[in-house]
Amino acid sequence: MSSVRLRALRADITTLAVDAIVNAANTSLLGGGGVDGAIHRAAGPELLAECRGLGGCATGDAKMTRGYRLPARHVIHTVGPVWHGGGAGEAELLAGCYRRSLQLAGEAGLASIAFPGISTGVYGYPVAAAAAIAVATVRQAAPQYPTLAEVVFCCFSAADLAVYEDLLARH
Ligand code: AR6
Repeated sequence: MSSVRLRALRADITTLAVDAIVNAANTSLLGGGGVDGAIHRAAGPELLAECRGLGGCATGDAKMTRGYRLPARHVIHTVGPVWHGGGAGEAELLAGCYRRSLQLAGEAGLASIAFPGISTGVYGYPVAAAAAIAVATVRQAAPQYPTLAEVVFCCFSAADLAVYEDLLARH
């Protein structure tokens, strides 16, 4: 078990020079709005070309590509659940996004990974509940990957950052 540093910061995830940024994509993996649109714009058309060959991605799963024009070396595309009120398996699917993304990073021998607030934009997942799952799942899963040294929770708003800072301060 390695020791992994968890931290939260407020940034545009497309500016982070980490080994992998995580994209909150949809099952087509062919782009969209929100953070997905921002990542594709910043990475350039080569990213979409690689994504076309992946055959989509199931909700709760993840697939990795190169980062192209991004400062990040890789993009891990994951598909969060659409929020339907909490009784449709949303929590387990969201935890799966974090677990599978960490697994891909760990198996590739990566050291640093940054997550956006998966499902908390267009997909409507309440931020506090989603952040609690994000932090708990990363705390549980990340230490099993020996190369993984840092996990960043990249927040787009000051309000989201406050939620993560509160969670990370407890423990
Ligand atoms: N950097 C960091 N975080 C960002 C950025 C950015 N540049 N842009 C937005 N966010 P969303 P979802 C935050 O809607 O809810 C897409 O169309 C945003 O404030 O991007 O998983 C996909 O193709 C929020 O906290 O993703 C799917 O169809 C978080 O990223 C669908 O949206 C996620 O918001 C996925 O919806």
